[in-house]
Amino acid sequence: MRMVGEPRKRPGSDTGRSRAAFLAAALRSPLEVGTLLPSGRALARRLAAVVPREAAGQRRQVVVELGAGTGAVTVEIARRAGPGSTLIAIEKDAAMAEQLRSRGLGAEIVTADALTLPEILADHGLDRADAIVSVLPFTLLPPARQRELVEVIREALHPDGVFTAAAYSAGYWTPTARRFRDELQRSFHEVVPTRSIWDNVPPAMSYICRQPAL
Ligand SMILES: C[S@@+](CC[C@H](N)C(=O)[O-])C[C@H]1O[C@@H](n2cnc3c(N)ncnc32)[C@H](O)[C@@H]1O
Repeated sequence: MRMVGEPRKRPGSDTGRSRAAFLAAALRSPLEVGTLLPSGRALARRLAAVVPREAAGQRRQVVVELGAGTGAVTVEIARRAGPGSTLIAIEKDAAMAEQLRSRGLGAEIVTADALTLPEILADHGLDRADAIVSVLPFTLLPPARQRELVEVIREALHPDGVFTAAAYSAGYWTPTARRFRDELQRSFHEVVPTRSIWDNVPPAMSYICRQPAL
């Protein structure tokens, strides 16, 4: 298993190829990608900020990203998590996952559906994650799928862990966004919405969730 370590390339150096791979995937699967552009740096940093910084003497923390795309958020998580962490980035689209692998961020890139998170953790000899960061387009998903994914995340999160999910601000009051919040509130004792980042395209906010319900 590869740990977060010294990147082979300067992390953050997103290339034109990454952006092209993202756009191609967005045109191929608009409902799965949910936007034409990767997350902006402010949103990426906001999401990564929930990942605890590595502390001396601490056990190796496990960080998972769901819907990693071409790595706009992965790069910030890798910076934050530090070389002693295990970072697993899950991306369903094979072309984007391949592009992300080529960026050499030191994360384990898994081409798979986020629903298979328990199997992915088990394949890596892991049980739970300390932090899970989602950039999945939750509000575009049908209710049953939304529920299934939140359930998988709740069960995979360490009781002291943190889960954060990005969401687009414009859809905050839509029925699917309300349903997503209800799912989060059913599954976590603490759900905190953050302010919007208005200069992200499109504007986005996030939820920070702790204390998974048993
Ligand atoms: C809004 S994009 C975010 C991409 C990237 N993290 C960023 O912030 O720029 C959503 C990503 O989730 C991926 N995705 C959608 N459904 C997925 C699923 N069930 N499992 C894994 N990845 C999924 C899409 O292919 C896409 O790359």
